[in-house]
Amino acid sequence: METKLVLTGGQKLAGLLDIDASKNAFLPILAACVLCDGEIFFENYVNLTDIFCMREILSTLNIDSQLLDGGLYVNAKNVKNNKITHDMTMKIRASIFILGALLSRFRSAVIAYPGGCNIGSRPIDLHIKGLKGLGVRVVERHGYIYCHGENMKAGDVVLDFPSVGATESLVMCATLLKGRTVLKNVAKEPEIVNLQDFLNKMGAKISGAGSDTIVIEGVEKLHGTQFKVMADRIWAGTFLLATATCGGDLTLKGFKLQDNESLISLLSQSACKIDIDGDMIRLRANGRLRAVPEIQTLPFPYFPTDLQSQMMALQTVCDGGCILQENVFENRFGVVPELCKMGAKISVKGRSAYVQGVERLYGAHVFATDLRAGAALVIAGLKAEGYTTVHNVHYIDRGYDRIEEKFKILGGNIKRVVEE
Ligand code: UD1
Repeated sequence: METKLVLTGGQKLAGLLDIDASKNAFLPILAACVLCDGEIFFENYVNLTDIFCMREILSTLNIDSQLLDGGLYVNAKNVKNNKITHDMTMKIRASIFILGALLSRFRSAVIAYPGGCNIGSRPIDLHIKGLKGLGVRVVERHGYIYCHGENMKAGDVVLDFPSVGATESLVMCATLLKGRTVLKNVAKEPEIVNLQDFLNKMGAKISGAGSDTIVIEGVEKLHGTQFKVMADRIWAGTFLLATATCGGDLTLKGFKLQDNESLISLLSQSACKIDIDGDMIRLRANGRLRAVPEIQTLPFPYFPTDLQSQMMALQTVCDGGCILQENVFENRFGVVPELCKMGAKISVKGRSAYVQGVERLYGAHVFATDLRAGAALVIAGLKAEGYTTVHNVHYIDRGYDRIEEKFKILGGNIKRVVEE
């Protein structure tokens, strides 16, 4: 059975959408449920395969979760420690977040090496080094990581690079660890602030998220709570970039400017008209936009790697040339040959892609190589003349809940086709 997205390009996009809950915030927050001794109700939910996989992993730890009233109910009263096996971790890289939480709660954990989108080698050395800094003894054998935490203690850890996942895992690891842990050179992404807010709501004592130093005063236990996960800034950016590419008039609800400043600055340079009022953003785009000569991805607050492919889709049809430099992952240009099949002019040298804007793209059969590459191909297909078929839709479903339904609301001509 193959699932494809079939598009006919050329429509402008217009309408109003609510921004979905953030996948990248939800995943570590679900992992953090391991730390809790009670019941948690999430007021929102987003139906993504990655979130479903994380719930499956939690169920192997005896944490039951059920959809309820548009949200998610999680029962973490009977958490038990268990080995997280390869068939679980191969599906999502975010499974590695569980490691810090399990260690904090049980002082031991066994987990298989994580999988995830193929966008570079994605090692976990920073996670392991950080855990060792908190006294964890780590033995790697037969594809499994055995962590022994009987001598764990709070302390200072300096990350060599501000990894988002390592920061989140270490925050969770220190949450139930007696004493004060200071994490330095940490990632500043808004999703980490959201994790901190969630943990604090359950009784943790954490401060500093959003800056480069996080301080955790260990507490004995966490209690249940009710929480609303932040809006997805990458989802919002994807729909804004789609409207900039196709032209139109889009309003998004649930928008937070301070999480998206780098993108908004680039869209303004491209000559989109943007109005922000409270948590609403309206973007209007008409005709061919100006290329932005140089864009580079960097950790927050700079332009996110998770919007690089979608930004590339926009630049393919802008007036002028753009050098897009990818500084976070070493192999995140998988979308380039696919966009070129549609008539884009892009050449890659090392970590830089040079995009020379063309007047039009043409429909083609294209293959998503990862989640964001898939989103970029949908954007290109909505713009292109004629029919586009996007294959490997399972990548897109990891991070967008029924992407075709959302674009249909905006007037896009897109449908999901399931073939036997
Ligand atoms: C998270 C996001 C992902 C986003 C990325 C960067 C989630 C679920 N995923 O992924 O969508 O693209 O942040 O914003 O939140 N690295 C190492 N060793 C490590 C860990 C990371 O070398 O132990 C490298 C990675 O290979 C990569 C860079 O550091 O080149 C950034 O990775 P990291 O910030 O850890 O990303 P993730 O947490 O995996």
